[in-house]
Amino acid sequence: MGLFDSVLKDNESLFLDTLPLDIDFIPPILEGRENEQQYIATCIQPLFSKRNGKNLLIMGAPGIGKTVATKHVLSEVHKKTDDIYTIYINCWKKDTPHKIALEICDQIDFKFVQNRDTNDLFKEIARILNKKSAVIVLDEVDKITDEQIFYHLLEEINRRTLVLITNNEQWLTTLDARVRSRLTPDLLVFKPYNFEETKMILKKRVEFAFAPNVLDPVAFEKIVEKAYDAKDIRAGLYLLKEAGEIAEQNAQRKISLNHAEKAIGKLRDFKLKSTTTLDTQEQMILDLIKVHNGLTTKEVYEVYQKKGGDQSYSNFHKKIKSLEQGKFISLEERNEGPGKATVLRYGMKTLQDFT
Ligand SMILES: Nc1ncnc2c1ncn2[C@@H]1O[C@H](COP(=O)(O)OP(=O)(O)O)[C@@H](O)[C@H]1O
Ligand SMILES: [Mg+2]
Repeated sequence: MGLFDSVLKDNESLFLDTLPLDIDFIPPILEGRENEQQYIATCIQPLFSKRNGKNLLIMGAPGIGKTVATKHVLSEVHKKTDDIYTIYINCWKKDTPHKIALEICDQIDFKFVQNRDTNDLFKEIARILNKKSAVIVLDEVDKITDEQIFYHLLEEINRRTLVLITNNEQWLTTLDARVRSRLTPDLLVFKPYNFEETKMILKKRVEFAFAPNVLDPVAFEKIVEKAYDAKDIRAGLYLLKEAGEIAEQNAQRKISLNHAEKAIGKLRDFKLKSTTTLDTQEQMILDLIKVHNGLTTKEVYEVYQKKGGDQSYSNFHKKIKSLEQGKFISLEERNEGPGKATVLRYGMKTLQDFT
């Protein structure tokens, strides 16, 4: 073997395509979520015979295929009929009734939205959707700030299935009783993937993403283990991409165990930085907690206000809870004088368990 055979040339890449390692990539085939997709389909089924559909609440931890399985069902509906609108909204990004109304208008191609208030927009939306039926998915639904949206969707749209997706098991109980009784959703809980499923899903991505045989099987096995420990496919995708990039930076023709281990060393960054799902306020608060690690909630709120944060304390508190939920921070109770204070820590204690 020549001295430079293992060295990657300038114009060479280990990647065929990095897109399949993106979290938003939709793989052509979903492994191991057939039953869940069938369940979602069953809720939508009545719409095909012009009856009202069932509403559905999907719950389960992050990174286990809730979004991708739901999107697959939407695309099946779309392929099968023109009589059902399929609308998908991520509520991290669209968290108010007005933003959601604008997004729906955009998706159904209704352009006359300038200077129109939310009620007005929903009248237009109902006029259009009620000519057909609609499946409306509200992903990350716990991020919605105003329950009014449910009245619009449940009362103004005649034939529809609402699919609501959340990581937060408590979410339904936080809703106003009237909204809950109008929703009465079926429940579908996604369970984390087992080791074999995790491996199969990542293996498919490897085939799409890397040139043949560049990933050492031992490195792959290690990455699968970490993704399985994290119970989050996204961690596996992150590690595959990082390991590939580390190998390329070192001009190596193979991705070795060593590259995988270096990538694993960065997994903590992934957990903390996978902020595509954070809204601007949450991002700002997270950044403050990073700099002021170990302050109490009240103290961080003071800093937040000084920096121009304009949320009420109760909203601020909600954001803290959702950062905790997303494992971006951890909360610690501390005795303080006669009462208790909550100390905020950047990152999650149990993170070390899998980094
Ligand atoms: N069964 C599966 N087959 C192929 N890819 C999957 C499967 N389940 C999850 N994924 C991938 O894992 C990542 C996380 O899935 P996602 O649906 O975003 O999780 P969730 O919505 O539960 O947080 C996505 O990139 C997704 O494509
Ligand atoms: Mg999701």
